[in-house]
Amino acid sequence: MTAALRLGIAGLGTVGAGVVKIVRRQAALLEARTGQRIEITAVSARDQSKDRGVNLSSYAWETDPVALAVRDDVDVFVELMGGSEGPAKLATEAALAAGKDVVTANKALLAIHGQALAEQAESAGRVIRYEAAVAGGIPVIKTLTEGLAGNEITRVMGVMNGTCNYILTRMESAGLGYNTVFDEAAALGYLEADPNLDVGGIDAGHKLAILSAIAFGTKPDFDGIEIEGIQNVTIEDIRQAADMGFRIKLLGVAQRSPRGLVQRMQPCLVPANSPLGQLEGGTNMVVIEGDAVEQVVLRGPGAGEGPTASAVLGDICDLARGLRIATFGQPAATLEDAPAASTGLPAPYYLRMALADKPGALAKVAAVLGEAGVSIDRMRQYSHDDATAPVLIVTHKTTRAALNQALDAMKTTDVVATVPVALRIEQV
Ligand code: NAP
Ligand code: HSE
Repeated sequence: MTAALRLGIAGLGTVGAGVVKIVRRQAALLEARTGQRIEITAVSARDQSKDRGVNLSSYAWETDPVALAVRDDVDVFVELMGGSEGPAKLATEAALAAGKDVVTANKALLAIHGQALAEQAESAGRVIRYEAAVAGGIPVIKTLTEGLAGNEITRVMGVMNGTCNYILTRMESAGLGYNTVFDEAAALGYLEADPNLDVGGIDAGHKLAILSAIAFGTKPDFDGIEIEGIQNVTIEDIRQAADMGFRIKLLGVAQRSPRGLVQRMQPCLVPANSPLGQLEGGTNMVVIEGDAVEQVVLRGPGAGEGPTASAVLGDICDLARGLRIATFGQPAATLEDAPAASTGLPAPYYLRMALADKPGALAKVAAVLGEAGVSIDRMRQYSHDDATAPVLIVTHKTTRAALNQALDAMKTTDVVATVPVALRIEQV
């Protein structure tokens, strides 16, 4: 009889408890599919007395996740604690050093220490799997590393933070301001312990760094990502974008360019009738473009107990089946250092500003844009009751650098009443 694949699970929160439940509930199904019995031998969390909605009495308890990671009766260390530093990193390193394979859902750990961990895993002959780290239940890592392995990937983009998509779509559907919906999201328990990880675009940036490494064969480079959160998106921007046929999304885009690797995570306007534009609530979507396949669109739940545990189990089943793939789809030593693109690719931009309602105000703004080489495509001025006129401009394709030059020059005019909002319009 084949020996069981023995799991040590560190972290018994939303995801960890979900994984334990599936391993218990689907034991026969998992064995039938993989040909190997999958069993949990030991678990770890901070508080042993906490009720986690699942019976843990048959598993050994370790208070120290590092001790769990190196146990002789553990074949696969399942890291579900989170955080790029501290116990998650220490225990993962210890597990690899002790000859264990690792399954994790930890995007922060891989985005920041992925290269070093991949090198350690390969030199020890072990593998790290992390399907749950990007877009929760969507099998995007598998799609990129396996299904699309025959493609040169040209662009990866997506909405990868469900909380931000919930906030933006709820603002639009309920006509509510950012702060009100942020508070609602907090009350519903959608936000990370540090909400800036969500609304500041950092969590989604971690996910993009991982996808980018696989797609382009580059070392994960979280620091090279241009990140802007959704905190400054207003209900006015959402309404006016909608009026022009767009919706605002926290969109991640990674793309090779002659100037280097473009990686950005920022609020963008996308066509309302595009798949990304139609994405509602906490759902995630990843769009992958390759030279042979053209475009693949993956949509599904990006978070939550079931979807995330489902992805973790996919990885565990791969290990049970003997599938062993290099961390980022190719040997760590072959991943390139990709310099971040010095200037982003040109795009049209949406600009919203309030102008002093006096003769020549629009002309001054148009002149400043023209001097920076920014050409206006469309322009609207909305009716108003006070002394400032809301104005909306859509530019032709331009670089962010040229636009910034124009925005700086606008500050020196006496007609721009508020700091203009500038959002990229992404062709998707
Ligand atoms: P969580 O609910 O906060 O659970 C974290 C678990 O880790 C808790 O059981 C906690 O113990 C344990 N823990 C923390 N520090 C520990 C330590 N020093 N020693 C031992 N155990 C420790 O987090 P989660 O939502 O399940 O997320 C886990 C991982 O999955 C994170 O990397 C996260 O980014 C990722 N992820 C989560 C989701 C999601 O939908 N939640 C989706 C995708 C990826 P106590 O319970 O005793 O406090
Ligand atoms: N905070 C993340 C989100 C959880 O909202 O998408 C899943 O990674």
